[in-house]
Amino acid sequence: MTSLQDLSTNRFPVRRMDFDFAELKQYWLNNDVGLTHFMTALSAFFPVGERFFVDSVRALRKHPNVADNVDLQAQISAFIGQEAMHSKEHHAMNMKFAEFGYEDIAWMEQATATVLKARFIFKPLASMDQINLAATCALEHFTALLAEQVLNNPKFLSELESDPLMFKMWAWHAIEETEHKAVAYDVYQQVYGTDKGSAYVWRVVGIIMATVLILSAQTYFTARLLRKDGKLSPKYWLHAANTFYGPRGMFTKSIPHFLDYFRPSFHPNDHDIVQMLKDWKVKLSFSDY
Ligand SMILES: [Fe+2]
Ligand SMILES: [Fe+2]
Repeated sequence: MTSLQDLSTNRFPVRRMDFDFAELKQYWLNNDVGLTHFMTALSAFFPVGERFFVDSVRALRKHPNVADNVDLQAQISAFIGQEAMHSKEHHAMNMKFAEFGYEDIAWMEQATATVLKARFIFKPLASMDQINLAATCALEHFTALLAEQVLNNPKFLSELESDPLMFKMWAWHAIEETEHKAVAYDVYQQVYGTDKGSAYVWRVVGIIMATVLILSAQTYFTARLLRKDGKLSPKYWLHAANTFYGPRGMFTKSIPHFLDYFRPSFHPNDHDIVQMLKDWKVKLSFSDY
């Protein structure tokens, strides 16, 4: 198995994708209304959210503590390329989904920018570059642990496999989120530090804010999609809620990994996913495993 040190200097590619969503079904996730809307609500965040991640990292890549780090610069470039591709593909998916009558999805994409504006309440207390990057690190942690759950949950995967195109798209995104999970964090660590003083405080504020805002906005988005169908009832909600928040749910199982972020010496690569990534790249026939 590749060591954690090897992973920290890992290079990863930008994979150019152009999924054809023309045949996307309305209830694309195993014909389950609740699960489909839950995941589509997540997809609504990505176009604007991932652009925000890119802007936050790009703003600091010329910082003296980062500018001459060849490995990190290469990873930043790949991170920007991967996130830009995720934004593009999720926007295409979202717009196809809107054709089923969910015009709300375009509103949700823009509402993501409004949710992200919550960070400005901290403007008097720190530089916006630091606040933006702390928020990005937190959201990347959140994304990485969800991505790992997607890739490791046989029950969820079996449902996702009901649509081969969506299976490939979500697995591709999840693989890349785990590949680049440390990039924003490494930039933050180089520029501000991560384990003590205000650097640690802003990192923790970031994860608390990110968790509250993401979970509440995602729940609201899911509810709006269900309401559009006239299916805003526990009957349709229950399976999705159990899949993510139940006793063996994907979020529930992530709690220890989520809480690890509060450890002052935390680093994303402490959580070794090297072999899992290799297995998945073989499974999806990526040429770079
Ligand atoms: Fe992404
Ligand atoms: Fe990411």
